[in-house]
Amino acid sequence: MLGSRGGWRALRRCSSLPRAVRLRVREALGAREPADAVRVQGWVRSVRSQKEVLFLHINDGSSLESLQVVADPSLEKRDLTFGSAVEVQGKLVRSPHRMQNVELQAETIHVVGPCDIWSFPLKMKERHPLEYVRQFPHLRCRSNTLGALLRIRSEATAAIHSFFQDNGYVHIHTPIITSNDCEGAGELFQIETSREAKESAEKTQFFNVPAFLTVSGQLHLEVMAGAFTHVFTFGPTFRAENSQSRRHLAEFYMVEAELSFTESLQDIMQVMEDLFKTVTSTVLSRCPRDVELFHKYIAPEQKGRLEQILKHKFMIISYSEAVEILKQAPQTFTFKPEWGCDLQTEHEKYLVKHCGEVPVFVVNYPYDLKPFYMRDNDDGPQHTVAAVDLLVPGVGELCGGSLREERLPFLESRLQRLGLTDAYQWYLDLRKFGSVPHGGFGMGFERYLQYILGVDNIKDVIPFPRFSHSCLL
Ligand code: 4AD
Ligand code: MG
Repeated sequence: MLGSRGGWRALRRCSSLPRAVRLRVREALGAREPADAVRVQGWVRSVRSQKEVLFLHINDGSSLESLQVVADPSLEKRDLTFGSAVEVQGKLVRSPHRMQNVELQAETIHVVGPCDIWSFPLKMKERHPLEYVRQFPHLRCRSNTLGALLRIRSEATAAIHSFFQDNGYVHIHTPIITSNDCEGAGELFQIETSREAKESAEKTQFFNVPAFLTVSGQLHLEVMAGAFTHVFTFGPTFRAENSQSRRHLAEFYMVEAELSFTESLQDIMQVMEDLFKTVTSTVLSRCPRDVELFHKYIAPEQKGRLEQILKHKFMIISYSEAVEILKQAPQTFTFKPEWGCDLQTEHEKYLVKHCGEVPVFVVNYPYDLKPFYMRDNDDGPQHTVAAVDLLVPGVGELCGGSLREERLPFLESRLQRLGLTDAYQWYLDLRKFGSVPHGGFGMGFERYLQYILGVDNIKDVIPFPRFSHSCLL
């Protein structure tokens, strides 16, 4: 061990300590060399006072592991408690303990912000269940689980951007306020100014047309796919749906991609699968300890399953095959499976189980079930469109996509039948000026995190849960 615990008193007596180098906890834990003057800032995760020595653990959110601080008991003060914010200055030395490489020998400990431990809802050394910390959206990021989740979320976000950038996609910021509803992709939130809410909305509409929060950036991406062959967007998406479910949110992030000069659904599925596998491998290698926490305490079998999934091709079945599988199932469903009816959660669950609890692409859905922009397969008697959903165990639908109808006469007649020709004139234009076969998909980011980490409730993979309508943080 470098430096001795008995040396602190002498060190503290030197009043003019040099301005120490500031290290993040992660950097300190990874240090290969001891260092004489370092400064670490963070929040106290544990305090243990012994006769000879005071032990602290400091966490600053940079890693799951906290940095052990050893100090002379004389440095202990009343407000140096669990949860308090501190700045510790001292020496980084090799630790005599097997579990850690280094520890910080404190020379000074400054309590920057005390913490009232009696009313602080997190308790030292307790493993708080996700349901418990969900009640404290403003404090739960200080728990190990949410800390790990938020680091994983950050890495996954970067990995998604890298995946597309590395594959030559252009990132597009699609609008959040829009008047297009992506033809029924989901229930809409309409927006108005607070003045409009009081007065007659008709006369005072801010944009002179009804405006909504976006339910999907797809149609805007399709515009861009008329100039760039590969585009993507990754942003907030809003759906006024049942947010009480464990897989629906009113506000979530969606990754969407659109590819031009693409004639086969296979190409779209390949991108979905590559995206999933590349991002997951990156997350597993960049935050192994954080992921391990979920796989150890929350979903013990998920690690092995994920490793298998990364090695094998995803399965593909058609919607018609799916209906046959469901019809032959030994169980009865609340919604009787019938060709032409939407697949319900219970059906998705069964299909995934039937295929061996692996991700499954379901392709070619009934024409009448899907929005106007999906490409007509021009088949029969069971008329289908080139649509694809990716179903995954435990979560259900992770991605939805399709080839888009690029043929003007097909699109015109479909829009006409739906009475949407005027509203979508601009969309028809895209089919008049250099139209190409194209397609794309959207993946729900929170559902992705839910799946890879094995988290049951989608509210536990977002930074701020809306646990009650009376508290919109
Ligand atoms: O299947 P969806 O509705 O597809 C679209 O919006 C297409 N326009 C996307 C495209 O082709 N560019 O939504 C895509 C994904 C779903 O598969 C699901 O993972 C997620 O978005 N999603 C939700 N996630 C959380 N909460 C909700 N309320 C969600 N609704 C959809
Ligand atoms: Mg869908």
